[in-house]
Amino acid sequence: MTLLEDSPRESYREACIPVLETTRLVLRAPHLGDAKAVAALANDRRIAENTARIPHPYRLADAEAFLLGSNREAGDTTFLVTLPDDTVIGACGFGSLDGNAPELGYWLGVPHWGRGYATEAARAVIDYAFTEAGREVLGAGARVTNPSSRRVIEKCGFQWTGVGLCRIRALGSSVPIDRFRLERSIWAALKSWGPVKRVA
Ligand SMILES: CC(C)(COP(=O)(O)OP(=O)(O)OC[C@H]1O[C@@H](n2cnc3c(N)ncnc32)[C@H](O)[C@@H]1OP(=O)(O)O)[C@@H](O)C(=O)NCCC(=O)NCCS
Repeated sequence: MTLLEDSPRESYREACIPVLETTRLVLRAPHLGDAKAVAALANDRRIAENTARIPHPYRLADAEAFLLGSNREAGDTTFLVTLPDDTVIGACGFGSLDGNAPELGYWLGVPHWGRGYATEAARAVIDYAFTEAGREVLGAGARVTNPSSRRVIEKCGFQWTGVGLCRIRALGSSVPIDRFRLERSIWAALKSWGPVKRVA
């Protein structure tokens, strides 16, 4: 079996990850056939320098390792973000590091920035985390130099909890980040808070 063939284990992992549809996007399990598309999108310093674990340069082998390792650990949930024609545009998911609260993470290929896609994908994953995956709280973090990610996090209802340090693999060093938290109860309140109906 070569690295590019789907193993039975991969089929099992894929089966555990549902397909989520939003207004403009489809989020689905990653598979090895996505490696070329993922490598082409993720090989950009602007992505690597704003995420903890993405190396730079990002080669096909890195994409294969990412895809093979996705959804392998209990609690690690990774979706690929695609357009309805199955064009891959990025990734979004959540997972626990060092036993801490599961952390939301996402990146999109640069040609797809600025259209609200990250917010749309993140909201779908958050809904999944609190409804189907039974999470009680999610964390998120953004480099202090990354206002668009901070904005995505805030638009999803997260509350700022403080600053910290995060090691960025592509930089080989740690950088300051803002940390955020979203509790299930806050999420539920935000989801149920419909518009006020003006009657007079
Ligand atoms: C962060 C990232 C996912 C955002 O994707 P996106 O699809 O462009 O995000 P959205 O369009 O949903 O939302 C971006 C928001 O940031 C705002 N924004 C963009 N640049 C900004 C800036 N320089 N200052 C302030 N706000 C900014 C946008 O106006 C938008 O907010 P709005 O809807 O209120 O107008 C994308 O830039 C990316 O992949 N970056 C590299 C990886 C990364 O940073 N991942 C997150 C790790 S924490």
